[in-house]
Amino acid sequence: MSAQLHWDKVYATKAPNEVSWFRPHLETSLAFIGRSAGDCSASIIDVGGGESTLVDDLLSRGYSNLSVLDISSTAIEVTKTRLGSLASRVQWLVADVTQEKFPANAVDVWHDRAVFHFLTTQSQRNAYVRNAAKTVKRGGHVIVGAFGPEGPVKCSGLDVQRYDEGSLHGEFGSRFRLIDSMKELHQTPFGTTQQFLYCFCAVE
Ligand SMILES: C[S@@+](CC[C@H](N)C(=O)[O-])C[C@H]1O[C@@H](n2cnc3c(N)ncnc32)[C@H](O)[C@@H]1O
Repeated sequence: MSAQLHWDKVYATKAPNEVSWFRPHLETSLAFIGRSAGDCSASIIDVGGGESTLVDDLLSRGYSNLSVLDISSTAIEVTKTRLGSLASRVQWLVADVTQEKFPANAVDVWHDRAVFHFLTTQSQRNAYVRNAAKTVKRGGHVIVGAFGPEGPVKCSGLDVQRYDEGSLHGEFGSRFRLIDSMKELHQTPFGTTQQFLYCFCAVE
């Protein structure tokens, strides 16, 4: 099954709070974005945003230059419906982050929670990093949250790659200067925990 079909099926059959990655608010992501976005006009893309409430929370904080990309049109439609008229303030992209032709130097903040760890081949990861390097402006920031060394080995029935600070930053390379990293124990809606590892980088 293609990745697009897989994710459309997940989102067509589960409510937003019935998936392991759900949390009501992405507090860690919001804190990193707060540290990276100069002001509310900063251009922010949420890569693999799914049905998360990050875009709602960024809009309510006044951010005005937001894009959400996801491979699943079902997830994008659910999020647009939830936002109602506010959805028109966001640019929506249904695309595979490894295949999309991103515009150069267009983004101040690249955010990804729980997407990069699904890229299990080096060529997928290289394509992702090439896209981030192309589209994030010099002086911009990249926030990536992936499963940590003690995180799950599978998610949503798919194999994942787990990372520590060195291996996650290592995928991005020296143009991405590591500013900070942190581990987080995510409480799933099912009462279990998942270890995440976040890297926060500046693009030089
Ligand atoms: C585990 S969910 C995380 C969703 C959201 N970031 C969050 O934290 O709630 C992974 C998301 O990545 C999307 N995704 C998976 N592979 C992708 C790809 N190659 N390109 C774009 N989106 C992808 C899925 O559709 C899904 O919405």
